[in-house]
Amino acid sequence: MANQLCIVLDFGGQYNQLIARRVRECGVYCEIKKFDTPIDEIKALEPMALIFTGGPNSVYDPRSPHISKEIFELGIPVLGICYGCQLIAYTLGGVVESCTKSEYGKIEISHNGSSVLFKDIPEKSTVWMSHNDFVSRPPQGFEITAVSSDCPGAAFENKEKKLYAVQFHPEVTHSEFGRQLMHNFLYEVCGFSGDWVMDDFIENTVASLRRQIGNKKVILGLSGGVDSSVAAGLLSRAVGKQLTCVFVDHGLMRKDEGDFVEETFTKMFDMNFIRVNAQEHFLGKLRGVTDPEEKRKIIGAEFINVFWDEVRKDTAGGFFAQGTIYPDRIESGKGNKSGEGSAAVIKTHHNTAIPDDMRDNFDGIIEPLADLFKDEVRAVGEKLGIPNELVWRQPFPGPGLGVRIIGEITEEKIHILQEADAVFRDEIAKSGIEDQLKQFFAVLPDVKTVGVMGDHRTYDHLIAIRAITTDDFMTADWARIPYDVLARVSNRLCNEVEHVNRVVYDITSKPPGTVEWE
Ligand code: XMP
Repeated sequence: MANQLCIVLDFGGQYNQLIARRVRECGVYCEIKKFDTPIDEIKALEPMALIFTGGPNSVYDPRSPHISKEIFELGIPVLGICYGCQLIAYTLGGVVESCTKSEYGKIEISHNGSSVLFKDIPEKSTVWMSHNDFVSRPPQGFEITAVSSDCPGAAFENKEKKLYAVQFHPEVTHSEFGRQLMHNFLYEVCGFSGDWVMDDFIENTVASLRRQIGNKKVILGLSGGVDSSVAAGLLSRAVGKQLTCVFVDHGLMRKDEGDFVEETFTKMFDMNFIRVNAQEHFLGKLRGVTDPEEKRKIIGAEFINVFWDEVRKDTAGGFFAQGTIYPDRIESGKGNKSGEGSAAVIKTHHNTAIPDDMRDNFDGIIEPLADLFKDEVRAVGEKLGIPNELVWRQPFPGPGLGVRIIGEITEEKIHILQEADAVFRDEIAKSGIEDQLKQFFAVLPDVKTVGVMGDHRTYDHLIAIRAITTDDFMTADWARIPYDVLARVSNRLCNEVEHVNRVVYDITSKPPGTVEWE
């Protein structure tokens, strides 16, 4: 049975996915659609709620995204956030003006107790504001329900028509009671029952996979990343041995990671597991290559080649499955009419289209996680019993250690880096600060320095360590790892990892640095 649906209409705001995630955290299934999705298409989906996102534009800019009045006549409750709030006012005849002083950051608002949107929220609370325009007069039939010192219309509504507007961002955690407000909108205003539950998702997906696959076979490329691992877990539960997972080991994984993936999936799950040990093949293709982009291209292309060469060995048909997740396929509204800059559908290299010569061999593509956000994928993974090491794995680039070894990649350098990285990770795990770090790893910059060991001079490798904190990986800060942890890491790296005689800690934020060194 289909879930009750909330649609987030994307006007190009930076928080559109966050809004959808928050809605789902409230137990309501939610999809993001571009602001110019035809009204008939929206109606056909029978949503019980619409949420208009923020956006970078002013409603008076003719190029900014607008919406037809018709949307307010469908009888579907609407919540407009930031730009979405101004758009409701503008479209229905209210007045939007430029602020004399823009509101940015944590702001106190007070509500008048009349709105169900603020049920169980204290009269005064902190919200997150970020706007240059504001609604100075709401449209006729609307009542102002909350104000801030600089914003007379922090929230307004037309209760009868179930149209609600808030100038602030309830979706960000800085808005103290934002979650409660969204819950109130979804449950008190729209009447959702809360039918988006991960246990049900697993049960329903397994049932529909069984129906779709019947007694046919399914092939899945397993990378050891979260998405393909959880897709494998779901498919295994649905069809067991009808599933074949092909795991291409390019030799550029972290220490023992390939063995761990193999052990997990062969011991814990019912499936056919094929591990292709392609380390030598990759090393051969990478010999003499030093340019980072070229390395990436080679690793990506060879990954696909090796995977499909393996699949070609047994072309008995069936389905091709991949771990595409919802953010991989959302097209952003981007807030302009031309759709310029619409996010291309990008997925790391292990998600590949079926090559031309193989297309006729397959009955179709299966993407069991295509509707899930990453945190939901992790929740499903945990419920399926996939080990934490895979479900909570920190981001690891598709080209693996290939972009953490600067210059030419050799077997020896891979070995040194794997050992160094394992020591660093071990110390971080022991230090109790792992949860504060989003990503941490070792880099082999291909620099040798002079050192001294006992009475001997050494001339050996430098290891750089990198640890970052970030919300979105677009910007990042270097982590303030305590000195004593750094000291232990440095000691152990020089003592335990052969060919390492010096350690540096990367204290560059992003920008100007990137997370990876290549
Ligand atoms: P940068 O280095 O661009 O990294 O600041 C941001 C995030 O992206 C990851 N990353 C990659 N992931 N293939 C991937 O699948 C790649 O080529 C790649 N390069 C960087 C990086 O680990 C970080 O999480």
